[in-house]
Amino acid sequence: MPVIVTDDAEAAPDLANCLLDAGIGAIEVTLRTDKALAVIGAIAKYVPAIKLGAGSICHPEQFQQIKDAGARFAVSPGATPSLLEAANMPYVPGAVTASECLSLLAAGYELQKFFPAEQAGGAATINALSAPTPQVRFCPTGGINEQNIAQYASLSCVACIGGSWFVPRQALSNRDFAAIYARAKHAAALLAG
Ligand code: 3PG
Repeated sequence: MPVIVTDDAEAAPDLANCLLDAGIGAIEVTLRTDKALAVIGAIAKYVPAIKLGAGSICHPEQFQQIKDAGARFAVSPGATPSLLEAANMPYVPGAVTASECLSLLAAGYELQKFFPAEQAGGAATINALSAPTPQVRFCPTGGINEQNIAQYASLSCVACIGGSWFVPRQALSNRDFAAIYARAKHAAALLAG
């Protein structure tokens, strides 16, 4: 799943179509730019076929904002009681320790983000973390790329893999959709193979 950081709402539908064409069915638009809600709104309006999520949710009020903009799921780097209480749509909160993982499981979250994946020990850490709680599945993100994706993809506890490596900021700001398409296609092929 691509983790998108962009303030280019005008080009967002072309970006979403380019990713769809490359075989990517879901995207996460992070709330890290002041245009993120406009980006989400444009994709929701013009490319309803893509499963659209909003990421970097750090404040409870953001759930209603992204819902109003058209997001269908939310992702956070971690979790707090107020975020869990405010969640009003399918939600993937983050955990990197056994205690965080267990707290989220107790709150009913079997799908958890694992972030920042590489810095937190990578695939080996996820594998160890999942041993006592095999019902938990993870979406690792952070530092994942063509070189290390296979380590994550080989784990049965990994449900999806996120990252920005195939939608680099430079290509986004140049609206270089040919480059993004090629990288996304390659990423999809690595996962399929
Ligand atoms: C995220 O929010 O999931 C990460 O910032 C993505 O990490 P990456 O840019 O290293 O892929």
